[in-house]
Amino acid sequence: MRQSTSSILALAVVGAVKVGAHQGCGGQEIAKRNLGMMDVGVEGLYVADGSTDAPTECAYYSYPPVTAAKSQFPTIWEIASLVPGDAEAAAVFAQVQAKVNATVGAVRMKGTPNGDFSAFTPTYNASDTDCWWTYKECQSPPSPPTSFVVLLTDSATQRPTGTTPKHPNLPADIIDLPEPRSLGIGFDDGPNCSHNAFYGFLRANEQQATMFYIGSNVMDWPLQAQDAIADGHQIAIHTWSHNYMTALTTEQAFAELWYTRKAIQLVTGVTPLSWRPPFGDIDDRIRTIAQALNLTSILWQSDSDDWRINTGTPPVTSAQIDANYQNLINGVNNGTYDKRGTIMLTHELNNFTMSEAIKWYPMLKAAFGKLVPIASAYNLTHPYAEGNISYPDFGGNSAAAVSSSTSVSASASGTGASATGTMKTSVAAGSGTAASSAGSAQPTPTAARAKSAAFKSSASTTQLMGTIVGGFAVLSWFC
Ligand SMILES: *[C@@H]1O[C@H](CO)[C@@H](O)[C@H](O)[C@H]1NC(C)=O
Ligand SMILES: *[C@@H]1O[C@H](CO)[C@@H](O)[C@H](O)[C@H]1NC(C)=O
Ligand SMILES: *[C@@H]1O[C@H](CO)[C@@H](O)[C@H](O)[C@H]1NC(C)=O
Ligand SMILES: *[C@@H]1O[C@H](CO)[C@@H](O)[C@H](O)[C@H]1NC(C)=O
Ligand SMILES: *[C@@H]1O[C@H](CO)[C@@H](O)[C@H](O)[C@H]1NC(C)=O
Ligand SMILES: *[C@@H]1O[C@H](CO)[C@@H](O)[C@H](O)[C@H]1NC(C)=O
Ligand SMILES: *[C@@H]1O[C@H](CO)[C@@H](O)[C@H](O)[C@H]1NC(C)=O
Ligand SMILES: *[C@@H]1O[C@H](CO)[C@@H](O)[C@H](O)[C@H]1NC(C)=O
Repeated sequence: MRQSTSSILALAVVGAVKVGAHQGCGGQEIAKRNLGMMDVGVEGLYVADGSTDAPTECAYYSYPPVTAAKSQFPTIWEIASLVPGDAEAAAVFAQVQAKVNATVGAVRMKGTPNGDFSAFTPTYNASDTDCWWTYKECQSPPSPPTSFVVLLTDSATQRPTGTTPKHPNLPADIIDLPEPRSLGIGFDDGPNCSHNAFYGFLRANEQQATMFYIGSNVMDWPLQAQDAIADGHQIAIHTWSHNYMTALTTEQAFAELWYTRKAIQLVTGVTPLSWRPPFGDIDDRIRTIAQALNLTSILWQSDSDDWRINTGTPPVTSAQIDANYQNLINGVNNGTYDKRGTIMLTHELNNFTMSEAIKWYPMLKAAFGKLVPIASAYNLTHPYAEGNISYPDFGGNSAAAVSSSTSVSASASGTGASATGTMKTSVAAGSGTAASSAGSAQPTPTAARAKSAAFKSSASTTQLMGTIVGGFAVLSWFC
């Protein structure tokens, strides 16, 4: 017996409400739970392609590839662990566990998943034996506790000394850029359901960025995740549930990365080779796990604090956040970045953070000239495990950024973006991406926006709009 669609929807919404409160980064309530993860018996509700009206963009839809695969994933927005019966994950985890044992030995978890380290820090060796970034940004001597930290550099290499792991054979984190006066541009916490105006702005400026996606958001908003590929952005991993990684068990930390990687692969067809720890919370144990998954760890050098808007006592104001952006520009002008470029933490979190990024973009561009995704900054021309996907190096991308010639991604994106009110397409795993042609100035534009029968509905936009469910669950969320 089959229930009516509306009662199934009502049940699904009721069932979605419970999610543990997250703290840290302000505890803003910003994430809605979408039905992408839920089998509600309806398909093809997505009508927002091209819309910049947030409620329209954030209308729920069900995406069959995600619905079909959800039993292979942990519960969204909860701390991940190995899914029972997942033999592939278990086998890789056994190797990771052995590597952790060999590299860092007995594990000491730090604090709580929501970032309370008050019971742990007093027992921690003050010489920072784990290169724990959240503690002192892994610096010796520690840098002053400001939000604008210019790290000490090795005089020979100019590489920041503060990121050298304490345990052997672990790579240093990326926190800045090798190219002078360049800015690594990236955004955490996406995909956000209402990012069309923001992504459209980047597209219009032929600007690619590194998008650090949360696995639960990818499962919630899979078609929004496909935008990143269609627009030539670099996708990186930002964990499954956005908790403090050093507080998790090795199995949980592994699963947070593994299942996010798998979700991105499922939805976009690419397997990222880089990640960013939420809150920058990484130590040598977490580095070992990331390394075992072939993930380069990308941190940052300064924090825009955009995620803190209206949080704290007294509340962080937009003027303070503007001052942080201005400070970055002042740093360019006074020579701070004459030897190496930099990375500032910014977010695809909500309307404010995206609007700030748009507002400051022309000024950052004028100051730095070269705004590039992290992969391009490091000439990581193959940022995904799929070796047949190439990405421009620094020269290619920074040249593209100032070129006004017609780009492949602009023409590719025009196909779907202009079609307001139509369905976005389904990208079957692995089939939605194509290697960019040699010498192309744009990274991996794809057929992601091309029309496909798989996710198309014959119903008109108006009819679909009429069936979209109105209620949603509100989560506590943060940076
Ligand atoms: C790693 O060490 C833990 C204890 O810290 C142990 O339970 C586990 O069996 C070890 N695993 C491997 C693969 O060596
Ligand atoms: C702290 O770490 C340093 C450097 O590894 C070591 O020499 C020292 O003995 C440690 N202190 C304690 C109390 O374990
Ligand atoms: C994205 O941004 C919108 C608008 O600020 C917000 O309402 C929504 O909850 C955000 N979160 C996600 C996960 O899309
Ligand atoms: C890491 O990369 C190596 C070399 O490409 C590959 O053999 C291995 O399977 C990868 N590991 C994981 C966990 O993806
Ligand atoms: C350059 O500007 C930054 C940001 O205002 C400031 O923190 C730094 O101290 C300045 N450095 C010098 C050498 O003036
Ligand atoms: C922010 O919201 C306003 C009002 O809804 C909208 O016009 C604007 O496009 C949004 N900005 C971004 C970056 O999403
Ligand atoms: C990246 O490649 C460019 C050539 O396009 C070169 O000038 C630059 O030094 C390279 N940077 C790194 C970090 O290898
Ligand atoms: C790239 O390689 C993957 C397997 O790693 C394959 O599934 C895909 O079809 C290839 N794409 C192209 C455009 O060759």
